[in-house]
Amino acid sequence: MSDQPTTPSHDQLASKAQAWSALFSEPMSDLVKRYTASVFFDQRLWRVDIAGSLAHAEMLAAQGIIAAQDYAAIRKGMAQITQEIEAGQFDWQLDLEDVHLNIEARLTQLVGDAGKRLHTGRSRNDQVATDVRLWLRGEIDLIESLLRALQTALVEVAEKNVEVILPGFTHLQVAQPVSFAHHLLAYVEMFARDEARMLDVRRRVNVLPLGSAALAGTTYPLDRERVARTLGMEGVCQNSLDGVSDRDFAIEFCAAASLVMLHVSRLSEELVLWMNQSVGFIRIADRFTTGSSIMPQKKNPDVPELARGKSGRVVGHLMGLITLMKGQPLAYNKDNQEDKEPLFDTVDTLKDTLRIFAEMIAGQVNPATGAKEGGITVNAPAMRAAAMKGYATATDLADYLVKKGLPFRDAHETVAHAVKAAQAQGVDLSELPLATLQGFNAAIEADVFDVLSLEGSLGARKTLGGTAPVQVRAQIARHRARLVDVAKA
Ligand code: ARG
Repeated sequence: MSDQPTTPSHDQLASKAQAWSALFSEPMSDLVKRYTASVFFDQRLWRVDIAGSLAHAEMLAAQGIIAAQDYAAIRKGMAQITQEIEAGQFDWQLDLEDVHLNIEARLTQLVGDAGKRLHTGRSRNDQVATDVRLWLRGEIDLIESLLRALQTALVEVAEKNVEVILPGFTHLQVAQPVSFAHHLLAYVEMFARDEARMLDVRRRVNVLPLGSAALAGTTYPLDRERVARTLGMEGVCQNSLDGVSDRDFAIEFCAAASLVMLHVSRLSEELVLWMNQSVGFIRIADRFTTGSSIMPQKKNPDVPELARGKSGRVVGHLMGLITLMKGQPLAYNKDNQEDKEPLFDTVDTLKDTLRIFAEMIAGQVNPATGAKEGGITVNAPAMRAAAMKGYATATDLADYLVKKGLPFRDAHETVAHAVKAAQAQGVDLSELPLATLQGFNAAIEADVFDVLSLEGSLGARKTLGGTAPVQVRAQIARHRARLVDVAKA
């Protein structure tokens, strides 16, 4: 930062800011300064803060509220500030409390009175609400493309595992055989809804508070629609009190983020279970696991475990924001400064988690081959063996008997006897001789073995949304068409 002897130094401005104005008889204590300052976390809003200021200044000039030269000077000053911040040379000052005052003070230092005119018809209350919305809008766009990348990763693995069969559970007990692809696609559905939720939240985030001023609007003839257009926002807040004080857009974002993390957490739990040695359905690449400092044989699934843990942190931020808002009277209150850290941490946690999961599941592109490598390894025989253990095709035998004319309840009871007999012999239903099966019901014929096999069971569940390979392939095609334009996030 170059020192310009003719204008007050940054430090002088800073010490002026300690006592807000002539009205104050003493400066803030250091403790209070530290307690009330937000600059060390809200400085990440700098880019949108400058964008918002430029849009405001452009409008002020267009409306004849400030001179064209002032707008030109503001632009020039902001360009320099942008450079300084990007180069890591900006001197952020605690004394200047927050990102807004830091940038404005530097602007005034650089361009003099034009800098002091920027705040005409504006308050930090509508400024910060605008900044947070603009920032969150950009992050939602990134998160949306990361959600698409994760869905794509799951679809890629699904594509290779349509015919791989594992036991589907209810109550974590073997229920019916399902395709591993079908299982993965269940998560694709969840993340697709999450994506839709994010886009829905975005519509309500992308509305302009500027022009609400401190709380009541302003006496200057502002053109708020113009500022909204400049900033690519879809509308303006229609009530100034609401515009400066509302944070429900942040709350609903955190609610949508919590659902994403909840889905990640469920998937994590399954990955951890599948990796357990007594299950052994999958392996994840070593780079997503850690060893133990005492047990040399260990490879721990730290990444899925941490993601499961971090879901608690994100849900916690949602609770924090809800509690922050509850009971706040209109309009702006300083409480709202506390919206930032939970919101920022939610975004950071979500982005990291989505990135790491897409890579852990489908692997990374090897630039030499163009193919993805290092995703999860599927142990199809282990899945199959597990599916053979719990009489997963018992429902199929019941359905078979229904097709032979038995009422379903009677078929259910007949099969229970067959399962009991098979259990006593320690064999699967498909391993019982035909004559034994016919002892339970004379209508049973040799074709029963078609439905008692895992493939027969799977292939028969052809209803829309069912696990039959023909359905699963149709779903994969639908997702592929939907996910074609995955952004490189
Ligand atoms: N740093 C403040 C925040 O994050 C900016 C708005 C301050 N407004 C005020 N009237 N003190 O909310």
